[in-house]
Amino acid sequence: MAETTRSSSVKRIAVIPGDGVGKEVVPEAVKVLKEAARAGSREILLTDFDWGADRYLRDGTTLPPDAVEMFRRDYDAILLGALGDPRVPSNQQGADILLGLRFKLDLYVNARPCVLFDERLTPLKGRTEQDVNIWVIRENTEGLYAGVGGFFKKGSPDEIATQEDINTRKGVERIIRYAFDLARRQSRRRVCMSDKSNALAYGHDLWQRVFKEIRSEYPEIEASHMYIDNLLMQMVRAPNQFEVIVTCNLFGDIASDVGAGLVGGLGLAPSGNIHPGRVSLFEPVHGSAPDIAGKNIANPMGAVLAAAMMCDYLGWTSEAYAIEAAVRAAIRENKTTVDLGGSLGTCQAGDWLANRIAAA
Ligand code: NAD
Ligand code: IPM
Ligand code: MN
Repeated sequence: MAETTRSSSVKRIAVIPGDGVGKEVVPEAVKVLKEAARAGSREILLTDFDWGADRYLRDGTTLPPDAVEMFRRDYDAILLGALGDPRVPSNQQGADILLGLRFKLDLYVNARPCVLFDERLTPLKGRTEQDVNIWVIRENTEGLYAGVGGFFKKGSPDEIATQEDINTRKGVERIIRYAFDLARRQSRRRVCMSDKSNALAYGHDLWQRVFKEIRSEYPEIEASHMYIDNLLMQMVRAPNQFEVIVTCNLFGDIASDVGAGLVGGLGLAPSGNIHPGRVSLFEPVHGSAPDIAGKNIANPMGAVLAAAMMCDYLGWTSEAYAIEAAVRAAIRENKTTVDLGGSLGTCQAGDWLANRIAAA
C-alpha cells in the first residue's frame, strides 16, 4: 500500500482514540506500531489526546482552538480511532474533531485501499486479490460536507433545510490529479472517475470538464467514467475492472464502505486523510461501533493498517510492509477477531500482530 513520504528521524505522532471501539483498537494499533518501530530501530514520540464524547460531556471541549496550529507545528502525523457516541446525538465532537481536522488541516485526500488479503474474506464467489484491489480516492474537504446551508422556519410545518454541494475548480483538480499520480506511483493502469453529472448539472459538470483535461496529461493510464449508481453495482458484480476510483466526498464515503464489504468488512479497512507534504491523519474507515464497544471483540486491523499507511507516509516503508505482512499472516493463520472468523479478542489480536513482528 505505498504512499507519499515526509522526512526527518524522530516521528512525532498525536494519538486520538476518540469514542467507542476507537478506544479499544487504537491502543492495539499503537502496540503494533511501537513494535514495528522497535524492530526497525526507528524513534517515535507518541502523545495521547483524550478528545471525544467523554471529554465533551465533561467540560464541553471538542477541538481546542490551538489544536490545528499545534499539529502543524509539533507533529508529523495523527492516528485517530473513531468519533460518535449515542449520548451525543448531534455528533458535535465528531463534526468538530474529525471533520474539523480534515477541513482545517486541508487534508484534501481521503485514500481508502480495498485490497482482498484472503479470498475467504470476500462475499463474492471465486475472487482473489487479483480481482479486488481498489484504491478509493475520496475528495475530503468540500462537496456536501462543506457545511454550507441552513434552516428557515425550523420546526414549523413550512420548514426549509438547505445543504449546498460545494465543488471548486481547485478542489476537483487537485483530487483528480492525486488519483492519477497515485496510479502512476503504484503502477496502476486505470483510473475511474465517478459522479452523478446526469442529474447534478453544475457541480458534476465541473468534475467532467476537469477530468477530461487532467486525463490527457496521463496518456499511459486508462481513464474512464461511471455514474455513481452504476459504479457501486459494478464494484459488487465485477470489482476487477477498478484499480483507482476518484470521486466526491459523499460518494467516496459510500464507495469505501462498499469496498470494505468486498474485502472483509469495516473491521479491516484503513484510511489516510492526507495533504501531501503536511501533517496528515490516519484512521480506520469504521466508526465507533456502539453495538460492540466495550466487549473486547472489535477488530483492531483497520486501525493497525491505518498505522501502516501512516508509516508509509512518513517514509518508513519497511515498517509499513512489516505491519501489513503481520496482518496478512494473522488472516492466513486465522488469528483474528470474530468478524473475520477467528476467536481472538481485540487485545489478543493486537498481541499476536506485535509478537509476529517481534519474531520476524
Ligand atoms: P460503524 O462503522 O461504527 O459500525 C458499522 C458496523 O460495522 C457495525 O455493525 C459495527 O459493529 C461494525 N464494525 C465497525 N467497526 C468494527 C470493528 N473494528 N470490528 C468489527 N466490527 C466493526 O458505523 P455506524 O454504526 O454507522 O456508526 C456508529 C457511530 O460511529 C456513529 O456515531 C457514526 O457517526 C460514527 N462514525 C464515525 C466514523 C469516524 O470516526 N471516522 C466513521 C463512521 C461512523
Ligand atoms: C467516515 C465517516 C465520517 C464521514 C462521519 C463520521 C462524519 O463516515 O470517516 O467515513 O462521513 O466522513
Ligand atoms: Mn464513512
